[in-house]
Amino acid sequence: MVALAQPAPLMLIPPAALNAAREARDAYGRQMTYLRISLTDRCNFRCLYCMPALGMKFQPRQEHLSDDELLRLVGLFAEVGFTKFRLTGGEPTIRPNLVELIRGMKSFTGVEEVSMTTNALLLSRNAQQLAEAGLDRINISIDTLDPDRFKAMTRGGRFDLVWKGILAAEAAGIVPIKLNSVVLKGQNDHEVGQMARLTLDRPWQVRFLEIMPMEGVGTVADEQLVTSEETQARLEAEFGPLAPVETDAADPARLWRIPGAAGTIGFISPVSVPFCAACNRVRLTADGKLRLCLLRPDEADLRDAMRAGADDPTLLRQIRAAVWRKPWGHGLAEGERETVRGMSQIGG
Ligand code: 5AD
Ligand code: SF4
Repeated sequence: MVALAQPAPLMLIPPAALNAAREARDAYGRQMTYLRISLTDRCNFRCLYCMPALGMKFQPRQEHLSDDELLRLVGLFAEVGFTKFRLTGGEPTIRPNLVELIRGMKSFTGVEEVSMTTNALLLSRNAQQLAEAGLDRINISIDTLDPDRFKAMTRGGRFDLVWKGILAAEAAGIVPIKLNSVVLKGQNDHEVGQMARLTLDRPWQVRFLEIMPMEGVGTVADEQLVTSEETQARLEAEFGPLAPVETDAADPARLWRIPGAAGTIGFISPVSVPFCAACNRVRLTADGKLRLCLLRPDEADLRDAMRAGADDPTLLRQIRAAVWRKPWGHGLAEGERETVRGMSQIGG
C-alpha cells in the first residue's frame, strides 16, 4: 500500500476573494473542474460489487432533482469553472428525458465535455440519439465476456444486449470506448486475459478496477479484492511485459499496452494506489447533495437550498464553500469504510 502524505491546508476558512472567483478550489489548492452526476439511484442490474441481492431501498422520485433543478445546477457549476460532467447512477439510461438533459447540459457556456458511465443494456436502442444530443464519451461496465458468468455477476443481466450496446455506441461515434471491469476473486479474475485481448485489434481501453468497500458490499470487498498488482501479474504471465502509456495526472487509471495492441489497458487502484492528490472531482447525488469525496460523508444539500428559494449567488457561494472543505483523502488503505451510502447512491 502507498501511504499518502496529507499536506497542510492553505487556510482554514475560504479567503473573501474566493467568492468573486470563477473557480472552485479546496483548502489544499486543488481546483475542481469535474462533476459526476448521479441521475438515479435505481438500476436494472444488481452487480455483486455494487448492490446487495435483496433489500435495496430506492429513493422516491420526488426526492430526486427535477430536470430543471439539475440543469440549473449544471449552469452554476460551469460558472465556477467546471468543464467536465459525467452522468452516472445507478443506471443513467433509465432516467426519463436523458437525451434532452444531455442537450440542455451541452448548451451552457463552459461545458466542454459530457460523458456517461452505463451498463449499456439499453444503449443499442438510443446510442445514436445520445450522440446527436452531444454525449462525448462513454464508459461501460462489463466484467466478463462469458454470458453465464455475466448473468451471475450482474444478477440477471443479458450479455448479448450489452455487447450490442457497446457496438452501437462505437458505431454512433461515442469514442474512445472505455470498458470497466471490477476484478473479483473466484468470479472473473481468471478471465482478465480475455478482457485484455479485446484491445489487441480494437482501439478500446479496458480498465481493471479494485473493488471499493462501499455500503452493501462489505463481505465481497473484504473477501474478493484482487489488487491491480495481481491482475497485472496475471496479464504479464499471458502477454509478456506490458508497455507503460503516458497518462493525464487527473486520470485515476494508470495505462499500459500489450506491445503492438490497438487499444490500452488501465488499472484503477483506489485501494492500493490512492489518487487523491490529483483529485479534481466532486459528485452530485441523485437527491441533490454535493458530495465532496466518494468515501467521506460530508455533503452540501443543494436541493433543499433550491427548494427553499435560494438565488443563484447564494447557491454559487454554497458550492464554493463546500468545495473549500473537501476532505484530503479517503483513508481506504488505513481500513476506513463507507457505511452509509452505497456506490449506486453516490454515483461512483
Ligand atoms: N468498487 C469499485 N467499482 C465499483 N463500481 C460499482 N461498485 C463498485 C465498487 N464497490 C463501478 C462499476 C461501474 C462504475 C459505476 O462503478 O464497475 O463501472
Ligand atoms: Fe447497476 Fe452499475 Fe451498480 Fe451494476 S455497477 S448494479 S450496473 S449501478
